Amino acid sequence: MQKLINWIDERFPLIETFEYHMSKYYAPKNFNFWYYFGVLSIVVLVIQIITGIFLTMHYKPDTGLAFASVEYIMRDVEWGWLIRYMHSTGASMFFVVVYLHMYRGVIYGSYRKPRELLWIIGVIIFIALMAEAFMGYLLPWGNMSYWGAQVIISLFDAIPGVGPVLSEWIRGDFVVSDATLNRFFAFHVIAVPLVLIVLVFLHLVALHAVGSNNPDGVEIKKNKDENGIPKDGIAFHPYYTVKDIVGVVVFLMLFSAVVFFAPTMGGLFLEPDNFVPANILQTPPHIVPLWYFTPFYSVLRAVTSDFLPYVAGLVAVVTVLAYLDTKDTIRRIIYVAVAVVLAFGLLSGLLEAKVWGVILMGASLVVMFFLSWLDRSPVKSIRYRGWIYKLALAIFVLSFVVLGYLGMKSPSDIDLILFKNVIWAQIFTLLYFAFFFLMPFYTKWDKTKPVPERVTS
Ligand code: HEM
Repeated sequence: MQKLINWIDERFPLIETFEYHMSKYYAPKNFNFWYYFGVLSIVVLVIQIITGIFLTMHYKPDTGLAFASVEYIMRDVEWGWLIRYMHSTGASMFFVVVYLHMYRGVIYGSYRKPRELLWIIGVIIFIALMAEAFMGYLLPWGNMSYWGAQVIISLFDAIPGVGPVLSEWIRGDFVVSDATLNRFFAFHVIAVPLVLIVLVFLHLVALHAVGSNNPDGVEIKKNKDENGIPKDGIAFHPYYTVKDIVGVVVFLMLFSAVVFFAPTMGGLFLEPDNFVPANILQTPPHIVPLWYFTPFYSVLRAVTSDFLPYVAGLVAVVTVLAYLDTKDTIRRIIYVAVAVVLAFGLLSGLLEAKVWGVILMGASLVVMFFLSWLDRSPVKSIRYRGWIYKLALAIFVLSFVVLGYLGMKSPSDIDLILFKNVIWAQIFTLLYFAFFFLMPFYTKWDKTKPVPERVTS
């Protein structure tokens, strides 16, 4: 064995790579529960790729055959049901672990300097993951697959001028059809997975270049011993590989419980409307995406013409705060000019409310790229932040969850108290954006606690 390793090592930096990324990668010694979700994201990615390969062996990307080929996988292919349920459960679990992974980044300020690029690559991964899930959902050619794709692709119609041409180009037809199914298949099975793998690789390269953050938000590289090893660091291998195995085993137990006992998760992971073949003459009464898209879908549906003045109100508040925050005249002019243009766009009726819906839904994702610069707190971790930030974060989490819930309901019903769902969605949409756009100010006002020199555990 040693000879083989030496032989390889003379021709490829095997030991060096292993040491750099594993046995001599010093990670902070105080990782907690929240640090499982990175490795779990890798586990789910691998599950999706392997089960996807086997599904592709039996699936037919043809509108006449697709639905039946999935039923064939479920009933006739040996273990096909298991492969398919692992893949459909994996899709939802991917978002569960990625949302928790992102939340960890938020609470411990892992997006702050020097990890801005690591975070940005993460946000690109998140958007690629959404594209991957959206295109995969069309493949079974169920009724919700069809109508979901129809609704989302026709959002592009809203773009002034090029919109209708663009959506036709995406579909390859005037409606969602065989051409659409074929290209979505190509993107889902090869193009986007390749992009995801490359992005995850870059994510880890960036992580290992700057080093991991930790629950205290203390930079362990600032305190090194005489050998240049961080005093608060421990070798990733074997200490964290062992810890991660525990997390992976527990996760796989939960994952199996869903696959074997609740694969549809009461309609959350696989919707009832998707057990019906696509029917272009029968629109489902409520077209709703799967749960992981519903917070953003809610933002889209919240934007009606009578909501736009409130958005303009939020723009005005942010502009006044930004204006007062600086003495620089050029900056002040820029802030006011941007606000005037935005307010004009929102209030003049030049763009339909539907277009603003698409813009705000896009903005609800794009704003994540800027988190590193919106947060001006002197501390990173929530442990040392004051009550203002904690309150803002609690309201944000509540908004995200409520928007997710409302996205599954009909806008005109009353599922919460007092108001119709659409009014609640509007309130929580404003709160969602307020978390980001007011961040430069409340993170500055917030009273923080002193951060210790070394990690605390
Ligand atoms: C396929 C999806 C993803 C995979 C496989 C992945 C993988 C990982 C791994 C293995 C780590 C190191 C272990 C850990 O800190 O938990 C990590 C760290 C990190 N990831 Fe991801 N990640 C993914 C998506 C994302 C997304 C969507 C974001 C944010 C938008 C993100 C932001 C971060 C940050 C900021 C860190 C450093 C955390 C710290 O040191 O405190 N990742 N990622």
